Amino acid sequence: MQPSGLMFRASESEDLLSAAARSGIAVPSACRNGVCELCEAILKHGQALNTRSQQPISEARHLMLCRTRALGHLELEIETVMAAGEYTARKFQANVVDVRSISHDVFRVELLLPRRRELSFHAGQYLSVILPDTDPCYFSIASSPLEQNLELHIQASPEWVSAQKVIDAIKSGSSVTLEVPHGRACLASAPAKPLLMVAAGTGFAQMKSMVDYLQTTGFEQPLRLFWGVRRHEDMYLRSLAQQWHEQWPPFSFLPVVGDDEDNDWSGHHDQLVRAVLATGQDWQGIQVMASGSPVMVYTLMDALVEAGLPPSAFFSDVLEYAPRK
Ligand code: FES
Repeated sequence: MQPSGLMFRASESEDLLSAAARSGIAVPSACRNGVCELCEAILKHGQALNTRSQQPISEARHLMLCRTRALGHLELEIETVMAAGEYTARKFQANVVDVRSISHDVFRVELLLPRRRELSFHAGQYLSVILPDTDPCYFSIASSPLEQNLELHIQASPEWVSAQKVIDAIKSGSSVTLEVPHGRACLASAPAKPLLMVAAGTGFAQMKSMVDYLQTTGFEQPLRLFWGVRRHEDMYLRSLAQQWHEQWPPFSFLPVVGDDEDNDWSGHHDQLVRAVLATGQDWQGIQVMASGSPVMVYTLMDALVEAGLPPSAFFSDVLEYAPRK
């Protein structure tokens, strides 16, 4: 792929968008059906087939990766691709499509980037919202990179001033400035081992992006999500997690609610960690993704490493933005 110089292998039977994703290369995409034109590239050299018309594609023609199969070595020109583990954050102006309250203090925000074709990101990454005269505010992207719109879950309450300012700006304006993508605790492709996801509060958003993405990749390894909240009403998309549990065989959902135990919430991370440890998993052969406060993430990491998890199998953005001294 030019100009990035990235390379990937594709079998004769798979489309180029799926093959690139399998290699961890992020390509802008949404419809996977030749309609949105986000995955457009130019065929520089080689022979390729349009899977809809079953016609060969000539050199120098535009093609959609999701609707193309390789008939041999190909050279493609496509600007906005991103290798696994790589990112360069850039500023974008996003239009507000929808903002609605989905719990007593969480808003679901949907944004559309007019320049969506120029943005690649991996499932599980986050963005910042830039407002004049305030520090950037960071939020996980809750939608899969394969979707056209970006979804955010913003917890805003009068005490949480910066998030409240973002919600006020989004409600009162038609567009907002984003810097995207950020974060290395993400999935560039479907992992080859079972996954354990542990989220506290709106840390669920990061997990949702990865679950939405994995559901489209044919991921068949066991995937468990522990979601810890203080009170029942804080589990703002419990019905969605329950629906994945019932309808997607690899997935199991284990809610952990502070109210269910006679404790005060200061012990919540212990409660979540105890629930995770109680599964008695083979800690050697899994990958863990964690999202929550630094205290929760480091308590979990220490407990799992002590139980036998290799430290290199534990991923969280906290390790990057709140490194332990
Ligand atoms: S044209 Fe929409 S993803 Fe390929």
